[in-house]
Amino acid sequence: MAKVGFIGWRGMVGSVLMERMRAENDFKGFDAIFASTSQIGQNGPDVGLPVRPLENAYDMEKLLDMDIIVTCQGSDYTKKMYPQLRGNGWIGYWIDAASALRMEDDATIVLDPVNLDVIKQSLETGIKNYIGGNCTVSLMLMAMAGLFKKGLIEWVTSMTYQAASGAGAKNMRELVSQMDVIAKSCDRLLDHPESAIEEIDRNVITRMRHDAFPTAQFGAALAGSLIPWIDSPMPSGQTREEWKGYAETNKILKTKIPIPIDGICVRIGAMRCHSQALTIKLKKNVPLEEIKSYIAGANDWVRVIDDNKADTLKYLTPAAVTGTLDVPVGRIRKLNMGPEYLTCFTVGDQLLWGAAEPVRRILKIVLDHIG
Ligand code: HSE
Repeated sequence: MAKVGFIGWRGMVGSVLMERMRAENDFKGFDAIFASTSQIGQNGPDVGLPVRPLENAYDMEKLLDMDIIVTCQGSDYTKKMYPQLRGNGWIGYWIDAASALRMEDDATIVLDPVNLDVIKQSLETGIKNYIGGNCTVSLMLMAMAGLFKKGLIEWVTSMTYQAASGAGAKNMRELVSQMDVIAKSCDRLLDHPESAIEEIDRNVITRMRHDAFPTAQFGAALAGSLIPWIDSPMPSGQTREEWKGYAETNKILKTKIPIPIDGICVRIGAMRCHSQALTIKLKKNVPLEEIKSYIAGANDWVRVIDDNKADTLKYLTPAAVTGTLDVPVGRIRKLNMGPEYLTCFTVGDQLLWGAAEPVRRILKIVLDHIG
């Protein structure tokens, strides 16, 4: 039976992965070994089966014994342990939610509803590293797979509305703390509908600009505001998050001629759903109904939302999508610029299709492959 080591299963992405694997009854047909960087010897997670106490995630001998390692521990762990493992001759499969190895030549970025052909080809050619993609890229691809598959896309610009979860669990907490401080700044006034909105507004902004406003994680107010910068600067003038759009999309799709993709990535006060407004230049004028049918037919999770206010409010918001695998695409229409210019809006749970789900699914694919 294949030995599968799980590392970083307690963190945010790891917990969602465990939850999804339990829900899908995935813990069968292999020997699951849970390791920890800090709680060695303690009890493993409840996976519906007896599990052994936690192994040490830095124990090279133990790691070398695994057929597959699944890690949600983060890039620092990957950078530290992965080269040592391979250096010691380990030939197992490395499945990783972190970005450290994504762009390596011997790594495939996994999003099987979109690139199963690339994954299968990689398995056949002996690639051993399978890495989850950037959440924004994966969610955009889940939404637009139908148009990419049909070869209709000349270029894409994506303006993102990214949730706090993309920055980490502490950031989600900080967002809620900021909301709490803002709400308290005008407590009494909100109870009185006749109170002046100017006073409420003044109280809110005064509190948001105060030194005591909790900004240790984001470095700025997110609640009641937004932050048009995600990740580190690149020489191109993009942020790294913006740079990933082009680099990862073209790697995931293994395009022969890279498709230009660029835009501005913005952090907003949603908890865990990323949204994106896309502008797409089509290679030719395709009727809107045809476009919608390609989008809707691409996979089991993408859903075209009718372009009206009621459906948009009901189905096309982070509040509606959080905790689900749905990838709604709405506001689909041609732009004034001409019949080849398409716009749409899409939302997806950053922790599910953006992180844990592709990892969960590649584990099954690899297990099937090694039989
Ligand atoms: N980098 C993304 C973000 C999440 O900050 O929202 C991880 O893919």
